[in-house]
Parts: sequence; structure tokens; C-alpha cells
Amino acid sequence: MPGSRIVALGHYQPARVLTNEELAQMVETSDEWIQSRVGIKTRRIADDETVADMAAAAAGKALANSELSPSDIDLVVVATLTAEDRCPNVAARVAETLGIKAVAAYDLNTACSGFVYALATVDHAIQAGVARNALVIGAERLSKFVDWTDRSTCVLLGDGAGAAVVSASDEPAISPVLWGSVPEMGHTITIDGEPQVFKQEGQAVFRWATTELPKLARAACEKAGISPSELAAFVPHQANLRIIEPLAKKLGAENAIVARDVVDSGNTSAASVPLALAKLVERREVPSGAPVLLLGFGGGVTYAGLVIRCP
Ligand SMILES: CC(C)(COP(=O)(O)OP(=O)(O)OC[C@H]1O[C@@H](n2cnc3c(N)ncnc32)[C@H](O)[C@@H]1OP(=O)(O)O)[C@@H](O)C(=O)NCCC(=O)NCCS
Repeated sequence: MPGSRIVALGHYQPARVLTNEELAQMVETSDEWIQSRVGIKTRRIADDETVADMAAAAAGKALANSELSPSDIDLVVVATLTAEDRCPNVAARVAETLGIKAVAAYDLNTACSGFVYALATVDHAIQAGVARNALVIGAERLSKFVDWTDRSTCVLLGDGAGAAVVSASDEPAISPVLWGSVPEMGHTITIDGEPQVFKQEGQAVFRWATTELPKLARAACEKAGISPSELAAFVPHQANLRIIEPLAKKLGAENAIVARDVVDSGNTSAASVPLALAKLVERREVPSGAPVLLLGFGGGVTYAGLVIRCP
């Protein structure tokens, strides 16, 4: 039974940069408040790009960074909670844009943990022998679901996409996943009602994240058979620097480069982990083959963590 590994990555963000200063003209907030409470300086906002456009752009770059062509891909999975349409799914649209034919294609929604869930399901499909080369994409257009009059949420979110090419490998480089959810906390992060807008109970989620994530991150390392001190990089969901930095410390990832893409990109939900990972690899900050912990968490409340070997 083969395992799988990430062979290439790609990312895409819209050109439009939204600064804290611009937000301070729209709602009662300040650059100082946003940076000190969340760590965000800027975020990107889609103009007329759809989730599928951004997903296809990131996936196209990942494919170009691999030695594969569209005809080699037999599975496309898109993690998103912001698809504009119910049907066709985003994965099918990406396949059509990239000229990938006769392909298994599905979307997956576990909110901000979506990419890690998707990566795990693709690893399982490859292990089961039903796929050999897959595209795994996290893509979001959260700006469509933002209440631009609500200062507690509109400063947090951004748009973008990150993608990975995952191939069968005799040397497995994706660990067993630690995944789960806390259904009784579902009400703390929502996009529901009419009009559909993003809402969260920030403090409740913050408390859960700062108490539970260190244990979950440690458990994910244990599942991978690795000590946190051996990690070369740590890529958690990019929601708040005040969650990310203490988490890395509590985990004991003292030798790891810690992704801080939230500073430039804001919270991009399912896109945040692959965006941050793709940028670290593009900047050659992590050696090829080095262990990297990916940890997604968010709406549901859902979470998923696994250790990959850097492509
Ligand atoms: C959302 C979050 C950044 C808010 O930060 P916080 O320090 O908890 O802030 P609070 O919500 O307690 O608000 C504190 C005060 O700042 C105010 N405030 C909220 N947003 C503000 C803004 N953009 N600018 C200025 N003041 C703001 C509040 O009204 C409140 O004022 P009050 O004390 O007069 O009532 C933080 O709770 C968080 O990161 N939570 C976890 C989010 C997460 O991980 N989500 C999962 C993935 S989606």
C-alpha cells in the first residue's frame, strides 16, 4: 500500500490590499487595536475573482511547480466554506479551467480546518489505491460574507487560495491525521441566517484555542511519531498572532519556523494553512524533507493536525 507526499505547492491572492488605516475610515477601529489584538496589518480582498478562479490560479501554479501535467491528475479536492454556488462544485470548476478530464472531484467544508481535512482524505484515497496524483486546494472569498459595519469581525478576514499537488509515494510523507470536532461549540462561529454573514464569539473561541490547541498539537506530533522539538516548521491556522505565538511556545516547537502569514493576509479560513505553507516553501525557509506540523481549527468547531515532510 503506497503512502503519499506533497510534491509541489502554489498560492494566489487578489491584488487589492485592504489596510488597517482604510478600515479605520469605515468603522470605529485603529491600526493600533488591530495589530495589538490580532497581529494583522493587511488583508487581500477579491475584486471580481470567484472562489473557483482563485482555487484554479493557486492549483495551476502548484501544477507548474511539479513535474506533472493536467492529464496526470485523477483527484481534485477543494476545501472551502464560501463557494458562491451550490452546483457545480468548485473542484469541478477547477478541473474544467485546468483542462483536467475524467477526474474525481469534490468539495469539503470543515471551515478553517478544511485544508488539513482535505489533505488527510486525499492521503487516504491514495493509500486505498483509488487515486495516484491529486490537487488539494484551500480557497476562500470571505469578503462576500463580511458585515462591513461590524468592527469585531470585518478587520479579521481576507481572501485567497493555496494548493498542493499530492502524489503516491513509496516513502510516505504525510502522517496519520489527528482530527475531530466539538459540536457543542458550533454556535461560536457561524455563517448562517439571512443575510449570511460571518459571526463569532471571539472570546469563547480564543479561550478554547489557547487551552485545547497545545494538547491537540502535541497529540498530532505523537501520532506522527515525532517530538515537537524536531519540527522544522509549524503552520497553524492563521487567525490571530496572540494564539499562534503562545501555541508554538507551549507546544515546545523551539526549533521550528512559525508561520505568521496572518500579518499580511488576515484570516483566510481554509486557505490559510496552504497559503502560509506555500510561501514558506517558496522563500526556501524550510529544507526539503524536513518535518512540518500543519494544524487547522475553526468553525464547527473542527480541528485537524498532521505532520508532512516538506516538498
Ligand atoms: C476576535 C478577537 C481578535 C477579538 O479580540 P478580543 O481581545 O477577544 O476582543 P473582545 O471581543 O473581547 O473586545 C474587546 C473590546 O474591543 C472592542 N473591539 C472589538 N473589535 C474592535 C476593533 N476592530 N477595533 C476596536 N475595538 C474593537 C470590543 O467592542 C470590546 O470593547 P468593550 O470592552 O468596550 O466592550 C479574539 O477574540 C480572537 O482572536 N478570537 C479567536 C478567533 C479564532 O481563532 N477563530 C477561529 C477561526 S475562524
